[in-house]
Amino acid sequence: MGWVIAMAGKGGTGKTTVAALLVRIIKENNLGSILAVDADPNSNLGELLGLEAKESIGCILDDIASNPQIVPVNMGKDAFIEYRVQRSIIEADGFDLLTMGRPEGPGCYCYVNNSLRNVMDRLINDYDFVVIDNEAGLEHLSRRTTRRVDTLLVISDASIIGLKAAKRIVELTKELKIKTKKELLVVNRSNPNIEPDKIKGLNLDYLGRLPIDSEVESLSKLGASLVNLNKDSAMLSTLRKLGEKIWLCN
Ligand SMILES: Nc1ncnc2c1ncn2[C@@H]1O[C@H](COP(=O)(O)OP(=O)(O)OP(=O)(O)O)[C@@H](O)[C@H]1O
Ligand SMILES: [Mg+2]
Repeated sequence: MGWVIAMAGKGGTGKTTVAALLVRIIKENNLGSILAVDADPNSNLGELLGLEAKESIGCILDDIASNPQIVPVNMGKDAFIEYRVQRSIIEADGFDLLTMGRPEGPGCYCYVNNSLRNVMDRLINDYDFVVIDNEAGLEHLSRRTTRRVDTLLVISDASIIGLKAAKRIVELTKELKIKTKKELLVVNRSNPNIEPDKIKGLNLDYLGRLPIDSEVESLSKLGASLVNLNKDSAMLSTLRKLGEKIWLCN
C-alpha cells in the first residue's frame, strides 16, 4: 500500500515547490515507485517537474458527465473512468504524473466523483509513494482524490496569521473526515529558527523549517522548472534531511 503525502497550506506558502522537491528526493533515493498528483485546478506541479500537461481528470469527467453515451455498454462507468484515468497518466523518468485539472462545470458530478474516488483509491495502491499537491482549500482531497492521507504536510510561513491558518487546515481535515497518520508542520522561507511559543497549541507536530532559497526564487522568476535546481540548493538540502520523518511510520 502506497504512502500518501498530501500538501496543505494557505496560498503561496510553497506547497507545489515542496511537492516537486519531495518527488525528486524520493526518486534520487530509489525508494520506490512514485505517483505525483497535481490536485490544484491551476495546475503547475507538472511544470515544476518539467512536464507538459496531458489530458486532465477534469476533462475526462466533463466528457463523461455531459456525454454519458460514450461509456461502452459492455464496460460500465467505473471501468471506463479507470481506463481513461490510466491513459491520462504521464510516465516520466522515475515517476508518474496525474493532473486533476480544472473544477467541474455546472451539473451533477456526484456519481462520477464517487467513481473517481474508487478509481483513485485503487490507483494509489499501485505505487509506493503518492505525493499530492493541493490547492489552498482541500476540496480535492474530500471529494475527488482520496480521503486516505498518511502524511499531511502543512506548509506555512512563520507569521502568526500563517500559523493560525495552518491550525485551521488541520481542523478542516477532521471536518472533511480525511484520515491521516501524521500531521506535520513545515515552516517555509524562514531563515531564523522559529520561536517554540509560536507553534505551541497548533495540534501539529513541528517537522522543521525550510530556508529562503535564492536559486528557487530565480528559477521561479524565469518560469523555469525545478529540474535543474542545483542538488545542493538550500531548500533541497534541508528537505532531504527532513525527508525520512515525512514517510516513516513513527
Ligand atoms: N524556500 C523558498 N525560498 C524561495 N522561494 C520559495 C521558497 N518556497 C517557495 N518559494 C517560491 O514562492 C512562490 C510560491 O511557491 P509555490 O507555488 O510552491 O506555493 P503554493 O503554496 O503552491 O502556492 P499556491 O497556493 O498558489 O498553489 C514560488 O515563486 C516559489 O518559487
Ligand atoms: Mg501550488
